[in-house]
Amino acid sequence: MKNNDSTSNDTIATAVDNHTLSNASEARVKHLSLNIAVDFSQKKIKGSAHWQIENLKHAKEIIFDTHDLTIDSVVLDDGRKANFVLDKPVDFLGSALHIPISEKTQSLTIYYQTGNDATALQWLTPEQTFGKKNPFLYTQSESIFARSWLPCQDGPGIRYTYDATVTVPKGLMALMSAENPQTVAADGVYHFKMDIPIPAYLMALGVGQIGFKAIDNRTGVYAEPAILDKAYNEFTDVGKIVDIAEKLYGPYRWGRYDVLVLPSGFPIGGMENPKLTFCTPTILAGDKSLVNLIAHELAHNWSGNLVTNATWDDFWLNEGFTVYFERRITEAMYGKEYVDMLWALSYEDLQKIVDDLNKKGLPDDTKLKINLKGRSADDGLTDIPYEKGAAFLLLIEQTVGRDKFDIFLRKYFDSHAFQSITTEQFLKYLDENLLNGHDDWKKTIDVNAWVYGRGIPANYPHQPNERFKKVNEQIAAFKAGKKAKELSTENWSTYEWLQFLRNLPAPLSTAQMQDLDNTFHFTHTQNSEIEDVWYLQSLKSKYETAYPEMKAFLNVTGRQKFLEPLYQEMMKTPDGIKMAKSIYAKARPNYHPLTQKDIDKIVK
Ligand code: BES
Ligand code: ZN
Repeated sequence: MKNNDSTSNDTIATAVDNHTLSNASEARVKHLSLNIAVDFSQKKIKGSAHWQIENLKHAKEIIFDTHDLTIDSVVLDDGRKANFVLDKPVDFLGSALHIPISEKTQSLTIYYQTGNDATALQWLTPEQTFGKKNPFLYTQSESIFARSWLPCQDGPGIRYTYDATVTVPKGLMALMSAENPQTVAADGVYHFKMDIPIPAYLMALGVGQIGFKAIDNRTGVYAEPAILDKAYNEFTDVGKIVDIAEKLYGPYRWGRYDVLVLPSGFPIGGMENPKLTFCTPTILAGDKSLVNLIAHELAHNWSGNLVTNATWDDFWLNEGFTVYFERRITEAMYGKEYVDMLWALSYEDLQKIVDDLNKKGLPDDTKLKINLKGRSADDGLTDIPYEKGAAFLLLIEQTVGRDKFDIFLRKYFDSHAFQSITTEQFLKYLDENLLNGHDDWKKTIDVNAWVYGRGIPANYPHQPNERFKKVNEQIAAFKAGKKAKELSTENWSTYEWLQFLRNLPAPLSTAQMQDLDNTFHFTHTQNSEIEDVWYLQSLKSKYETAYPEMKAFLNVTGRQKFLEPLYQEMMKTPDGIKMAKSIYAKARPNYHPLTQKDIDKIVK
């Protein structure tokens, strides 16, 4: 697959980030001292951001990103109030905040408060938590929502260090992507320090009734007391996962590694906030089978947090590398046959997203390097950067050999530590440090087809699939009329079950659904991944026995990847539309603001 994309052979010296309105190449932030109070009654964060800045090019102003912030005042380091200008909002990007500075200006303080459309913030009522007694707040800043809870230069290529003072209602704990407390502060005032420079999308805050349990001396888990033990039991291997990651690609450079398990409304699976991964409680399956999500977020501490995509057009550098790294960790823990199941499932996902994007008339979004100019940064958030990106790296590994590839990756992380990188810079580095002089490898891999071409290249590195062969035999037997209890399903992991459920024909008869359910108890499973596919199959097969559980699931779970397919399926029939509307009317307030916007487009 060849194409003539003109960018393919250029190396861009400085990356153009289309999703920040800031002027960081002229005047940029260096350090933040944040001082905020969290007001649950008004659903507002209010306070000040004191920024140390560097005026690189004698600029007359410094520009910050904001989204729906009220700017109360700006004070310069000489004590003068600045005549700032807050522009009208621009589609997807928010409002540029212009602050006039002189060459001598070294710092300034912005007094501000958040608005009702703070897209990074989800404010939960006590009923929406596990404990039911206290409210909860968390942020989700990636991709470009940090600007909705603090004025910042919000681009992945702009790093700074920070410290923070955060005041919360007494009795609650506050945590950040920083050095964290392990006990509740009596006065509700918490101090944080992050002395490793990070981009704004890694700014994070969580506030609620939270307890802590140590796993070992550098890892631990935070969660609401009601689920703390469950979370701890699920994550007892986390220390080991960090050790494995270090053996693969070098030291973990962030000090502690803790995980915060959030209430069910959390819109995604996990977020790699430095020092403190945020994750959904839907991975608490009771058997550690979904802990690869933690491996994924941990891996981001190399691919993403250490070496960062320069712009959201280069997002595959964060996610593709992380999926590849995550699979290497999973392989080290559970073996090759196990991780091959993940590769096989993700190949199906990849085919599906390529079909979807083609149907939507967005074939260029199937490229690894994409162009999001004028669009929402989240338009790039598909399985393409994840699964096509990871497969590309697997292909390189298989072509050059694992030993060489591991040495290369380790050097890549070391030599680009705490820097941001474009796709073009990566490809140049790849060429100079791995492929140079090996025309046979270059021909086998065909970098251009993978990075700048559409769809799935013909040399996709398919993996052998011993365990799914057995699953497919059981599907065939069931189709041929075998009863569920006669199928051989001993020792099946979550992934065998997912393969089984995803590949059953649809619709099945009510008798078949009942037979499966009576034998394997899918309707009442504790495993959210299995639940999700089972409910999808139930909708397709009109298996109403599962509906009450499905409704309960949709009502409490905010994880978008589970919600979308179920609502989409319901919207295909008149009865389904009725059901979708009634479920959504009740569940909507439990979803994150961005998830609401998304589901609003499906259920209408
Ligand atoms: N960094 C992402 C989450 C993200 C990306 C949020 C872009 C907003 C914008 C995180 O590491 C991630 O990929 N999470 C996945 C986990 C999965 C691939 C194991 C998720 O939430 O489903
Ligand atoms: Zn990720």
